Amino acid sequence: MEDTRNQNMQPGLEDRVVKALIQRSQKAKDFAYCPYSKFRVGAAVLTVDGSFFTGCNVENAASNLGICAERVALSKAVSEGHQRFKAIAIASDLKDDFISPCGGCRQFLIEFGSQWNVYLTKPDGSHRCMAVEALLPAAFTPEDIQKEKKEEEKEPDLFT
Ligand code: THU
Repeated sequence: MEDTRNQNMQPGLEDRVVKALIQRSQKAKDFAYCPYSKFRVGAAVLTVDGSFFTGCNVENAASNLGICAERVALSKAVSEGHQRFKAIAIASDLKDDFISPCGGCRQFLIEFGSQWNVYLTKPDGSHRCMAVEALLPAAFTPEDIQKEKKEEEKEPDLFT
């Protein structure tokens, strides 16, 4: 069951691949370590060469050290040599809502390109697909780091 509000969906992902990706994200959710929030999240990424990597949220007693499922999945992929992605699926236990990535994860996703697909899902497998750029408009991206900067202002030399 596909939601009709899909925005900026990129072409090229067959239904069976979307299904496989979503199923992986749901399985990954089973490993969520979330004793504090009790909010389980799973994620699965698909690389351009067809590999899958999964992740779950991993919380910590020092709460700011917890990490989201999306960042775990992406970091696993990157740490194994993959930096180009077709899609990520995100799964939670929210029955009536498509799980939506947090702001930090949106920034983490756009680091690896603005035009790949994010599948926000419900436990029944229904989904809404959005491009990374639609989730984070007017983003600060790696390209910004390369842009021309104004001349550096010199500190006054106090010793001459
Ligand atoms: N969480 C994720 O893993 N991904 C999201 O997209 C939203 C939130 C986690 C962080 C925390 O462990 C728990 O869900 C509640 O915020």
